[in-house]
Amino acid sequence: MLPPIALTISEVRAAVAGARRESKSIGFVPTMGALHAGHAALIRTAGISCQFTVVSIFVNPTQFGPNEDYTRYPRTLEDDRSLCGAVGADVLFVPAASEMYPDGFATSIDVRGLGDHLCGSSRPGHFAGVATVVAKLFNIVAPDAAFFGQKDAQQARIIQQMSGDLNFSLRVEILPTVREPDGLAMSSRNRYLDPTQRRHATVLYRVLEAVHALVASGEHDVTALERFMNGEVASTPGAEVDYARVVDGRTLQPIERIERPALAALAVRFGSTRLIDNVTLAP
Ligand code: PAJ
Repeated sequence: MLPPIALTISEVRAAVAGARRESKSIGFVPTMGALHAGHAALIRTAGISCQFTVVSIFVNPTQFGPNEDYTRYPRTLEDDRSLCGAVGADVLFVPAASEMYPDGFATSIDVRGLGDHLCGSSRPGHFAGVATVVAKLFNIVAPDAAFFGQKDAQQARIIQQMSGDLNFSLRVEILPTVREPDGLAMSSRNRYLDPTQRRHATVLYRVLEAVHALVASGEHDVTALERFMNGEVASTPGAEVDYARVVDGRTLQPIERIERPALAALAVRFGSTRLIDNVTLAP
């Protein structure tokens, strides 16, 4: 069944209020659309842990830089709606930018520290845009639980931090990265890749798996690991490293050795397409 579409804040609030009247718990999956199996996994899990699932589809302008892909970001609402129906979403919230950011909108949420490195360095302002829109969505939907992907590890940490700091009364759940059969992390941006780039894009996963194996076999020196990551990506045709880092898993700050849980994170450009991926590392 195709889920209904709420275009306005009052429509989605009415849908949630109806479910609340039936004593249903509310699960929430925020997205920017162009949905794939990664999003589907979040929506399915929301449906297992909650009785009413809200999916938002909103290409949030404030999290895109001036030279990024806001205007060409894929918009596939009909396909998205079918996928949402197939995996059990109960309502889609699809607001216009003017509904979320009316004239005079003036607030921005800055989660200090966590956004300094990794994607924060190459995308200034990005995480303030993300934190602000997610806080608004949390207030609009008021769910019991919200579901995010480990694929965007830094975003997930920032949202956990923001949600705790601002006392949102909901659970933030982080689910594993869903991958293509050859290991490439599912992403709405994969469709930008031409066939050659698509073939070479598996380098992210291969390098992260190799880093995982190196750490398991006792290599705990971060400089050596980062040198390895940079070298592997640099020798891949058409690939350009944006960052290749091993950071503290909780604070996302630089480290010299792996002594606590850590995160190996990669951002790689293929032409104008930027892909990210990560893997968690245990000492
Ligand atoms: P979007 O890129 O559409 O992703 C929506 C959610 O799906 C995020 O939590 C993301 O981490 C998760 N996701 C994406 N690819 C995944 C994969 N391969 N496996 C598992 N989960 C995956 O992230 C955003 O939108 C936006 O920044 C948003 C949070 C909606 C705020 O605008």
